[in-house]
Amino acid sequence: MLLYKQIIDIVENDVPEDVALDVVKGGRKKAKSEGEEAITRFLRTYKPEERLAKQALLAQIESSPLYTEPANDVADSHKFGWNRGMALKLETIIRGRWSAWFTILDKQRFDEDLDDIPECEFSMFDGSAQVKKMLDRCMSHAYSSGYRGHDFMEWLGYSLGIAWFEKPDVDERTLQHWYDTFDISLMMLYPSDYLSTFLIDYQGQSGVGGYYPTPLNATMMINQMLGFGNPKIDRTVSVYEPCLGAGAMLLPSESLNLIGADFNISMVKAACIQAFLYQPWLLYIPHPITGIHFSESEMRINRYFEFSCDSNIFHGDSLLGEYRCPKEIFKESEELVDIHINPLDLRKNSALKWEKEFMTIPWDEMAYEMKWEIVKAQARSLGFDCVASNPPFGAMNKFTMEQIREYEKSNVAFLAERKAWLDQLEKTPSPHTEEIIDFTMSLIEEKTGQLSFF
Ligand SMILES: C[S@@+](CC[C@H](N)C(=O)[O-])C[C@H]1O[C@@H](n2cnc3c(N)ncnc32)[C@H](O)[C@@H]1O
Repeated sequence: MLLYKQIIDIVENDVPEDVALDVVKGGRKKAKSEGEEAITRFLRTYKPEERLAKQALLAQIESSPLYTEPANDVADSHKFGWNRGMALKLETIIRGRWSAWFTILDKQRFDEDLDDIPECEFSMFDGSAQVKKMLDRCMSHAYSSGYRGHDFMEWLGYSLGIAWFEKPDVDERTLQHWYDTFDISLMMLYPSDYLSTFLIDYQGQSGVGGYYPTPLNATMMINQMLGFGNPKIDRTVSVYEPCLGAGAMLLPSESLNLIGADFNISMVKAACIQAFLYQPWLLYIPHPITGIHFSESEMRINRYFEFSCDSNIFHGDSLLGEYRCPKEIFKESEELVDIHINPLDLRKNSALKWEKEFMTIPWDEMAYEMKWEIVKAQARSLGFDCVASNPPFGAMNKFTMEQIREYEKSNVAFLAERKAWLDQLEKTPSPHTEEIIDFTMSLIEEKTGQLSFF
């Protein structure tokens, strides 16, 4: 950890390259660890003008609301988010996606021609052996003390201050080992889907809930074929992954409009960590962005946006369309809010919930709060430009199946009630509303026929 504080110092204080390399190697001829070697190579590639630009970006990171002061030593590493500030700075030195995203968030708009999104080249090979070695070293020690992959992920996610994670319950010796051994910059230098294999190796997740990760080479190719693997694409296309896993399908996407969900909480946690490392716009979207979610020419939210939380990674069952998410993704013990995406239960569809008011009260006379609810409901029912997934191919679980049958019954009652008030009003609902209902009922038909994800 100390080394990485020094690297940040080197860039911030414009230390000449040879002195910088000496600091990294600590006076030794050769670097000691994989991390030191990688960062040494990396510092050699830095041009002086790049350093100046990076210094400005590091100052921007420090003034961001997500910045936290780094821990000085292991004793100081008990606070929620103790490593987030340093991780944000390291990411800025290595790539710079967070600072690009902060700039877009500050302007509240995305300009295709002006905003430069640094590339993040994923690979299953370059440097990944080094990262795996480092993760193995973290775990081999912890394993003998009875800890598992889950404990390490809790430590890592808590250190980044992500709301899904709780204070890790491990002994001081293990904390010291992880503090000394884990090197987040290595994961940033060599982007890959590390946590998918980690969860299989150290938490026995293979096959759990139909979890089999898709190799990154395949998801990179899928993204290329869909046209989302190329930075020249329209970065605003919305891509939804209902069976997110650790994020393999969305990680290589060049879109800035990503949404993912999984019903396995370990997967949600892994996806959050990997989004922090590589795809900030998947993890943290505090408000809609003009040019991504809001169209200036139409003057309306024109792409899916969820207003009740500030993240696009949800935990829940995609067959039901029911999820939960922390209200604020970077706040400790944050309350969870309900999120519904095309819910099978029509009563949970917010567009239908506000339908009567929408049809009966003239827009100019409507209370501001109600207008706001209607705007939010409509933003949620916009749907996605693309759904990209590798779903499980097994049978549906019993709980989901029972729930779907119950919704089928309660939807029939809901539709009867709706018909009664519509008859009284003698007004025809908008074709859009009818579409929502038809779509939901056809999904139920498919799913009760055991079609599961097909
Ligand atoms: C075959 S794995 C694919 C994971 C990831 N998409 C990838 O390509 O590496 C399927 C994933 O779907 C998740 N899953 C299965 N049924 C689900 C459901 N009903 N709702 C949400 N996620 C589900 C599992 O937890 C698992 O992570």
